[in-house]
Amino acid sequence: MTGSVDLRGGDWLDDNRANWDERVPIHVASDFYDQDPLRAGGSVLDPIARAGVDRLFPDGLAGVRILHLQCHFGSDTLSLANLGASVVGLDFSRAAVEEARRMAAEIGLDGRARFVEANVYDARQELPDPGSFDLVFTTWGTIGWLPDVAEWARIVAWFLKPGGRLYFADGHPAAYVFDGEGGAGGMPTFQYPYVNADPDVIDDPSDYADADAKLVNDRTWEWVHPLDEIMGALRAAGLTIDDFVEHYEVPWQIFPIAVPKGDGMFGWPAERWLPLSYELVASAPTEGPADSADS
Ligand SMILES: C[S@@+](CC[C@H](N)C(=O)[O-])C[C@H]1O[C@@H](n2cnc3c(N)ncnc32)[C@H](O)[C@@H]1O
Repeated sequence: MTGSVDLRGGDWLDDNRANWDERVPIHVASDFYDQDPLRAGGSVLDPIARAGVDRLFPDGLAGVRILHLQCHFGSDTLSLANLGASVVGLDFSRAAVEEARRMAAEIGLDGRARFVEANVYDARQELPDPGSFDLVFTTWGTIGWLPDVAEWARIVAWFLKPGGRLYFADGHPAAYVFDGEGGAGGMPTFQYPYVNADPDVIDDPSDYADADAKLVNDRTWEWVHPLDEIMGALRAAGLTIDDFVEHYEVPWQIFPIAVPKGDGMFGWPAERWLPLSYELVASAPTEGPADSADS
């Protein structure tokens, strides 16, 4: 939901960008974002996204053209490139994009991996290639930073080739109603409404990749988008939902009570109390771009 937010500027964008700029060097230095597999020609994709991409492209990614929205400093983008794809990563953090370009050059992928510094809502102006991607890939911690999912969906659709697909995986909005700190016994406690047109404006100096980090630019603006809003937005943009799967694991320690499940994933200690994440595949019509409207 948008409320009256200016998608192209304002405090929400400035605060969030400053926060992400500050996180980049912390993340690059962290164990959480281990870059060595990339240097060895491999992938750091989490198991959910890796399996999801493999299902979509059973013959591999050679020659596949991928747009990675909100690519951070390019770890997943370069993983997809190492798997054979031609990739464009887009992120609004200059520090992230500079690091992504540096890493692409270091591992010799700069011919097949390009990075664009832009707000998602400016993507069509900064990357004027409508209908040119086989896959838009965006995962883990993305649309929660975006005020308007309807406009996001139109942008995704605008970039897809006829028959092209969106691969999306993220934290489950039902899990985002809880406070990350936890109450008695580390159990998450209810804090945020599931549906709220207004952003949650949060002052939190901590960082998920480094427990010792104390961010100076600690204010963030975040939105919880209900599942029906997300699916409705994709359908309204002309896409068809092909697949939707709920998962009980996420690739970060979402709550103190969450326990490692192997392969970098975290989940509930015992029962499947509530889905923690989901993945969704949507496809563009096979004739013409799904949405060519530019706003
Ligand atoms: C949690 S990270 C995504 C992490 C990603 N899954 C990865 O490869 O590690 C969120 C990213 O969204 C970017 N971002 C947040 N708001 C944005 C916006 N409005 N436009 C473009 N990028 C944005 C941040 O700079 C950050 O890199």
